[in-house]
Amino acid sequence: MKGRGPPVASVLIVDDDALILELLSQMLRRAGFTTTCHSSPLEALAAVEHERPDVIIADFVMPEVNGIAFLEMSISRSPGSARILCTGHADSDVVMQAVNAGQVNRIIQKPPREVELISAVTQAADTAALRRRNEELAEQLRRQNLHLEEIVRERTEALLQGFVGSLDARDSGTRTHSQRVARYARRLALQMGIAEPDLGIIERGSLLHDIGKIAVPDRILLKDGPLSGEEWVQMREHPRRGWALLQGVDYLREASGVVLQHHERWDGAGYPTGASGDRIDLGARVFQVVDAYDAITTDRPYHRGRPHGEACSEIARASGTQFDPAVVAAFLLVPLEEWMRIRARVEAAVERDQGDPPPRSSG
Ligand SMILES: [Fe+2]
Repeated sequence: MKGRGPPVASVLIVDDDALILELLSQMLRRAGFTTTCHSSPLEALAAVEHERPDVIIADFVMPEVNGIAFLEMSISRSPGSARILCTGHADSDVVMQAVNAGQVNRIIQKPPREVELISAVTQAADTAALRRRNEELAEQLRRQNLHLEEIVRERTEALLQGFVGSLDARDSGTRTHSQRVARYARRLALQMGIAEPDLGIIERGSLLHDIGKIAVPDRILLKDGPLSGEEWVQMREHPRRGWALLQGVDYLREASGVVLQHHERWDGAGYPTGASGDRIDLGARVFQVVDAYDAITTDRPYHRGRPHGEACSEIARASGTQFDPAVVAAFLLVPLEEWMRIRARVEAAVERDQGDPPPRSSG
């Protein structure tokens, strides 16, 4: 643009000397720049923020603040502008201070010669244009990256849901348990006043709670009779194994607290570490209540689901022993219709995605 076609860059000039101000402005307008002039640095600062000029020229000696301080203050108000200091005191201290503090691109002698002024401003305007173009490209890149990240997340989510559904089917004969407790956990967390991003973390942790069972052999997971001591040891490792699996994936790592502690109990009688009270991840405490609710109200191969009211009574009885009392209190405030709506929605979605018949329920 500049140097080839006529220059169209905007220049803001601040100088307490009205004659110099007019002289600079005339020279620049003759060369095709647009100019705005200010005799007060403080007024000029407001204009900088509003106009975001391509180039700012400041006189060094001014009554309110000196030119270097003014240019320094202009940086945060218009980071993309190029800065020129106009001074008769170009000793090395001034130059160093101007470059370091004021991020000054050029220093010109006062009063400037027209050729020198136009050359300096043209070069500064080119610098500003390049800087802006660079910022635009960086912003464009950032937006594209965000979009890519979103696509990766969506696909990972879909993959995980399918994967977790298969794990559920292997373990409990339904494909919907983990997805249901994930949605239930989000609803209960919302009831407790928890906001994003924690809602998403609790939901994801609940979805993946049993992912460590991938490492438990079928002979143990599907065993009909009671597990031996050694088999229990392996079974009880699944929260730790699940936690370890998630450490390798940035956006899942934050949900690993729910996975690690989903079998702990409020009274410390759970596993794998026997943590108690609020030493248990809040997401895991939320999960424990909705997991119990889902287990009680859903038909499983070995028992029929029981009604909502019975599930509530059972959960209330375990408040303060198995469950966090605050979580139980919030759970009991969520109306039955909401749990039913979530259940129906999950079953419809899974049926649509995986062609699986919904399990019978009595919730
Ligand atoms: Fe589990």
